[in-house]
Amino acid sequence: MTGSEQFPQFPPDFVWGVATASYQIEGAVDEDGRGPSIWDTFSHLPGKTHNGDTGDVADDHYHRYAEDFDLMAGLGVDSYRFSIAWPRIQPTGDGPANPAGLDFYDRLVDTMLAKGITPAATLYHWDLPQALEDKGGWMQRDIPQRFAEYTAIVAERLGDRVGYWITLNEPFVVTAFGYALGTHAPGHRLLAGAFPIAHHQLLGHGLAIDALRAARVSGKLGVTNAMAPVHPATDDPADHTAAHILDLLHNRTYADPLLLGRYPDDVPAVYRGADLSVIKDGDLDKISTPLDFYGLNFYNPHRVRASGPENFGHEIVEYPGVTTTAMGWPVVPEAFTELLTGLNERYGEKLPPVYITENGAAYDDKPDADGRVQDDDRIAYLDSHLRAVHAAMAAGVDVRGYFCWSFLDNFEWAEGYAKRFGLVRVDYETQERTPKASYDWFRSVIARTRDAH
Ligand code: NOJ
Repeated sequence: MTGSEQFPQFPPDFVWGVATASYQIEGAVDEDGRGPSIWDTFSHLPGKTHNGDTGDVADDHYHRYAEDFDLMAGLGVDSYRFSIAWPRIQPTGDGPANPAGLDFYDRLVDTMLAKGITPAATLYHWDLPQALEDKGGWMQRDIPQRFAEYTAIVAERLGDRVGYWITLNEPFVVTAFGYALGTHAPGHRLLAGAFPIAHHQLLGHGLAIDALRAARVSGKLGVTNAMAPVHPATDDPADHTAAHILDLLHNRTYADPLLLGRYPDDVPAVYRGADLSVIKDGDLDKISTPLDFYGLNFYNPHRVRASGPENFGHEIVEYPGVTTTAMGWPVVPEAFTELLTGLNERYGEKLPPVYITENGAAYDDKPDADGRVQDDDRIAYLDSHLRAVHAAMAAGVDVRGYFCWSFLDNFEWAEGYAKRFGLVRVDYETQERTPKASYDWFRSVIARTRDAH
């Protein structure tokens, strides 16, 4: 354990887990009938990812999952958050299921269950079938319906065994980086015009929850948002306005409709020029259907100051005197407590129990001759952030679990393989896996919690 004070005691039924996503680890992009996704297309375009890296092979988890589950079982986790690749299930995004794709996830689920690990399945972790993008992707009103049909197929096959269903992963990041700024697939630069992407994802979430309920799945139902406290750089009212804008774009655009059934009043002003007529009667009722849990991903807060209109009137600046991860993200664990207690205040009884579905850090790991990594910086990050979660729980926030991002080093989207978040190192030349010091540390955290009860 690091940290000067004794590590806090988590409740006996607290769920400990690790997380990954399909395109980031699976590889095998042409196997067993998988269709292309927008990330296959995007990562193969020159200049879109660091070093031209793609997910073609990634961690080769598609072939090595049995070995990976042995390692995962060694951690003692209760649950594993993975994602299902829509283009493995429906290669062109609609129509009949591809049996080999379903078979793969069936094997995956049974293998983890055999190790005592509860499956937590994300239905959309960014690998949209390319054929749907060719028809307009999430800009189109019928994509939510396609997403619900795909969900129904998966629910029918896995609904008796998945413990947690997560419809969307981080719809904010999809809207902002995929469609507003263009640094992620599919690479559009629509700026405020990307608003329909937010709305159609949220509607897809609501319809997918309906589909899961109709299939009478046994697991709990939820969604995962990326959220971050936003701090004005100074007391200048212009900086406060800038912070409020980023808070809308990042947080309230998604959490308010999901939890309160309405968009914030400042949507029309901030998404100026966007087509808000995509919000139809009845949509918000669907979007705000009650959930069993709220998934939360947190990495860092943002400090902003006012700037010109080109980036929605704000600019992200450094926190003075604060260290950063290899991603350049500030390490501010107390912002995690602030986020959780703030959610409790804003949403009150509308906030379902919270699961931290991602938290973790990339560092420039230095392996020794055996490939072993003494990643004290990652341990310190995880330690301080778990303490921050515990502080929020002590203040009354109902947090039920914590999934570390990530189990394995993997394809970090536009950053390719250069940024490593794993508890387990992957040698991309040999596909050899080597647990890092943080793996042993996380195992001991889980074991201590269990032993104390
Ligand atoms: C959030 C995303 O869900 C995940 O795919 C990504 O790798 C991590 N954050 C780290 O950036």
